Amino acid sequence: MNRRILFSLLSALAIGFSGCQKAATDEIAVGEFASLTGKEATFGISSHEGTQLAVEETNAGGGVLGKKIKLITEDNQSKSGESANAVNKLIAKDGVVGVLGEVASSRSMEAAPICQSNQIPQVSPSSTNPKVTETGDYIFRVCFIDPFQGTVMANFARKTLKAQKAAVFTDVKSDYSKGLAKYFKEGFIKAGGQIVVELDYNGGDKDFKGQLTAIKSAAPDGIFLPGYYTDAALICIQAKELGISVPLFGGDGWESDKLTEIGKEAVEGNYFSTHYTPEAGGEKGKAFVEAYKKRYNGKVPDAMAALGYDSAMVLFDAIKRAGTTEGPKVRDALAATKEFEGATGKTTLNAQRDAEKAAVILQVKSGKFSYVETIAP
Ligand code: PHE
Repeated sequence: MNRRILFSLLSALAIGFSGCQKAATDEIAVGEFASLTGKEATFGISSHEGTQLAVEETNAGGGVLGKKIKLITEDNQSKSGESANAVNKLIAKDGVVGVLGEVASSRSMEAAPICQSNQIPQVSPSSTNPKVTETGDYIFRVCFIDPFQGTVMANFARKTLKAQKAAVFTDVKSDYSKGLAKYFKEGFIKAGGQIVVELDYNGGDKDFKGQLTAIKSAAPDGIFLPGYYTDAALICIQAKELGISVPLFGGDGWESDKLTEIGKEAVEGNYFSTHYTPEAGGEKGKAFVEAYKKRYNGKVPDAMAALGYDSAMVLFDAIKRAGTTEGPKVRDALAATKEFEGATGKTTLNAQRDAEKAAVILQVKSGKFSYVETIAP
């Protein structure tokens, strides 16, 4: 063998061994990208734990198509740009047959065109912006979307909180926040309310007092805050410092123990909508809560954990029904998902590749999230 050929063979081997985690022939590689560190780390950790549990249960039950699932997880550090890198690597190097992720809509939307062009199905557990699945026919989600969530919170503000005038405070860096703000406004006006002031911030900002002062002088009956938990907690604290006493309320982005850890008494009494509560579930839901607690030292699962579990189980079910891991066939099987019973109840994927599920409203009470009501689609 001449030297040049030997050299290129050796370097190909070296590349093969460095970083590439290709599954063995008796394994099916499934990719996951998640915010395991950084600003929204509790989202990524919860959804990863749910996904991991689904993999372990599936493998203990014999796997899928006679093979074990090998889950390959990449951390995007809650940063924009990193999800595209992660998913390119998962597809090109690791040869994954499906991609699970993300929680945050902006990050799911970063990965979606890559999955779409490679014909690798992507299942987001909990990204609610409509644009996520509009990217193409390989992109799915197992949760409701924000036109529904925004309407739920608009009706809640009008009917339960009896708000006539609302303020909306949006994170312009987040597709999720911008979308949810828009659907809330539409729903609130339709329900006979009035939006008296709309202001913006950039996710990660620390000082919100300028905008909050303007909000205060518009004298709303409530403030809609469709952001993520770190910013939401700081905004609640600064609102309180400014003497704002009307309720603040948000969407699923508030759901983290960090909301109360950071916000303490400033978040007490406030409300948010989300996908799930461990208190209201069917038989599969209850079994999931028990298994999750056992696996993670008594930790109670949140919406992201339950949806992370369901995203993986729905993908595995589709691979089983497809009888193959070929992208186009798994895609078709995913699109045909009907009444799949999981941790969050039944998942049916509609023609837009979205799930239609009920929302729950929770209230912060004594540092815990207490169940208020369920709102059907
Ligand atoms: N729905 C949010 C988004 O699309 C993410 C989220 C899901 C946050 C579930 C909390 C719970 O960005």
